[in-house]
Amino acid sequence: MTTDSKFLRTFEGEVFASPPIWFMRQAGRYLPEYRKLRAEAGSFLDLCFNPALASEVTLQPVRRFDLDAAILFADILLIPHALGQKLSFVENEGPRLEPVVTLKDLDAFRERDVLETLSPVFETVSKTRAGLGSDKALIGFAGAPWTVATYMLAGGPMKDPGVLRQKLYEEPALINGLIEILADKTIDYLLAQIDAGADAVQLFDTWASGLPWPVLDRVSIRPLDRIAKAVKKARPHVPVILFPKGVGEKALDYTLLQGCDGFGIDYAMDPTWARANLGERVVVQGGLDPLLTITGGKPMEDAASTYLKLFHDVPYVFNLGHGFTPQTPPEHVAALVEFVRSNG
Ligand code: CP3
Repeated sequence: MTTDSKFLRTFEGEVFASPPIWFMRQAGRYLPEYRKLRAEAGSFLDLCFNPALASEVTLQPVRRFDLDAAILFADILLIPHALGQKLSFVENEGPRLEPVVTLKDLDAFRERDVLETLSPVFETVSKTRAGLGSDKALIGFAGAPWTVATYMLAGGPMKDPGVLRQKLYEEPALINGLIEILADKTIDYLLAQIDAGADAVQLFDTWASGLPWPVLDRVSIRPLDRIAKAVKKARPHVPVILFPKGVGEKALDYTLLQGCDGFGIDYAMDPTWARANLGERVVVQGGLDPLLTITGGKPMEDAASTYLKLFHDVPYVFNLGHGFTPQTPPEHVAALVEFVRSNG
């Protein structure tokens, strides 16, 4: 396959003097143009399900910073919503899912056709793809089953991870059943995004962090293996990127998975270790602490330079080690892009 997308060519093994760049949470509240459309849309969910506005929001950061990839504007919690759990976003509190999931909900979830409810998302994907040049890639995404399950089981962001960790031991039928359903629905969801025009897909496993190791294997590594394998089998040319946050040297296990083409490193991971142990196996992506983009200036550029130097001789995608927060000044992002392009 030949393409003029620097991002996609990196996944074909090409090394660029300055690597392709995109950012997790590149569309969002730190951008005034996002805040404007968000206010026009009404709620966050209304924005996610409005293809005209969602595709515009997807394109905003690509236009402003000339990034190499767009990431679909949606949320990992659209899957629980499509399964029938009521989702709302409460100002200054975050997402709320009601009621919390119990074992008796699983049969109904299994039967549910999520693709019908999610059809506006696929329209957003095709609209966005049509609005991007062929040098820009469009990344689709989903939450990993465990991370999505934490929100479904806690009814929102988990306040005490210990409560869910205990559930892992005490309610295996609930956890295993829910993870299996989420993995199945996520495969359908990602394939539909690809068919609508997504060039690559990323799986976010934010709450892989802090899991006991045998449990990590059960609820994170194996489900991601199943999803990545199924996506690869059905759409072999589409890169699959895994981003399990906070897994340390367990990263190795993920990069050994057959379907793992790219691996997102978080800000806690030692990039020297990542270069030595992962850099020749998969395309490493990211790493930079997003809080440095609030600071800006030399501390941000010195850190960026560390990643650029370490990964200069292998396929690498420049990105953050987690998403932007609303405090980031857009000028710092512009300066970071300029720095990467001129120092690669
Ligand atoms: O630009 C992009 O990266 C694409 C869109 C995207 C969003 N959320 C938009 C969003 C992506 C990829 C996500 C992933 C996501 N959502 C994750 C995994 C990555 C991570 O950040 O750990 C998680 C855990 C969620 C769940 C979620 N969505 C939370 C906890 C919140 C509230 C926190 C907050 O920042 O307010 C959201 C809301 C959300 N998702 C916003 C955006 C732009 C803010 C909503 C708003 O405009 O009010």
